[in-house]
Amino acid sequence: MSDNPYEPMPARVIGVSMEAGGIRPVKKIQVAFINEEDKNNFKNVPGNCAILSMIGQGESMISITSPPTEKDFLEFAIMKVGVVTTALHELEVGDIVGVRGPYGNAFPIDDWKGKDIVIIGAGIGMAPIRSIYNYILHPDNRKDFGKVTLMYGARTPNDLSFKKELFEYEDQADPDVFLCIDWKFGPNGMMDEDAQEGWPRINMKDAGATVIPPGQTRFTCFVPQLVEMIKPSPENTIAITCGPPIAIKFITQNLSKLGFDDEQIFTTMENRMKCGIGKCGRCNIGEVFVCVDGPVFNYKQVKELLPEY
Ligand SMILES: Cc1cc2nc3c(=O)[nH]c(=O)nc-3n(C[C@H](O)[C@H](O)[C@H](O)COP(=O)(O)OP(=O)(O)OC[C@H]3O[C@@H](n4cnc5c(N)ncnc54)[C@H](O)[C@@H]3O)c2cc1C
Ligand code: FES
Repeated sequence: MSDNPYEPMPARVIGVSMEAGGIRPVKKIQVAFINEEDKNNFKNVPGNCAILSMIGQGESMISITSPPTEKDFLEFAIMKVGVVTTALHELEVGDIVGVRGPYGNAFPIDDWKGKDIVIIGAGIGMAPIRSIYNYILHPDNRKDFGKVTLMYGARTPNDLSFKKELFEYEDQADPDVFLCIDWKFGPNGMMDEDAQEGWPRINMKDAGATVIPPGQTRFTCFVPQLVEMIKPSPENTIAITCGPPIAIKFITQNLSKLGFDDEQIFTTMENRMKCGIGKCGRCNIGEVFVCVDGPVFNYKQVKELLPEY
């Protein structure tokens, strides 16, 4: 490991899979450090990110989706949006990518022991919080936590990330899983077309009053309405949410209506970043450097930083 904090550690791609299609596809890549020393020194916790670098293209901050219980490789879910993420999408097994990190703070997972956990993701927002549910559901850790509920939504079934494992969880008694896909909008507002088969449409105005048929896990609605419908209890519960800012805003509003305090709700922030180590000033909000002090914050802290939330 180099003393230069900007020098990436070389890692080999050992697995790739397409996680979601659509106009902004998501690819999952698994990488293993080439040098044993780098592998041993890299100690990530749920919530951490790493900077991935592609020679000649640049660097991108990406959440580590694999839990620390996975010792042999790191896993990332990357949405193709621009120059670097397009280059990362072209990686194949055997290629080399640069990794530096781990960066950022962690979800305070030890403080959550004995509590129920509600995990709410929207779109690519499931990536940063996947490491939490994989950590909590690991057989070594499962007994330390209460009931686990996963709620996740994307635009279409094709846009859902981590489908394979989430669909497997749907068939199990633990965790509770609820998935949703978006209503479609047309030029005149909501399109009046049949709901996608297997994904019954929920009238968004009545979401709070809807009774869920036993065994129903898939719906056509937005993630905030899913929260309104499932009505997780705030009692001895921690809620973790991540997704586009507009989704987080309405998800947290609905959690508040259910009685969650701001300090029971955690999220991760994705401000633009460059150095990742609190030097360049790209990510800061006032005196808070999101790359070092975050990206994990509780909702009380988020509101102090960004009152518009
Ligand atoms: C803490 C953190 C965790 C992240 N985790 C993930 C993850 O797990 N998976 C993932 O796919 N992405 C994640 N991102 C976002 C990712 O870093 C950016 O999408 C990526 O750097 C874009 O690089 P690019 O060169 O492909 O895009 P560019 O060519 O630089 O830009 C393409 C488009 O993306 C927008 N963009 C660029 N950077 C960001 C950003 N940081 N946030 C929002 N929009 C941006 C640009 O405005 C432009 O519209 C994370 C960002 C942060 C800060
Ligand atoms: S990314 Fe440089 S200070 Fe945070």
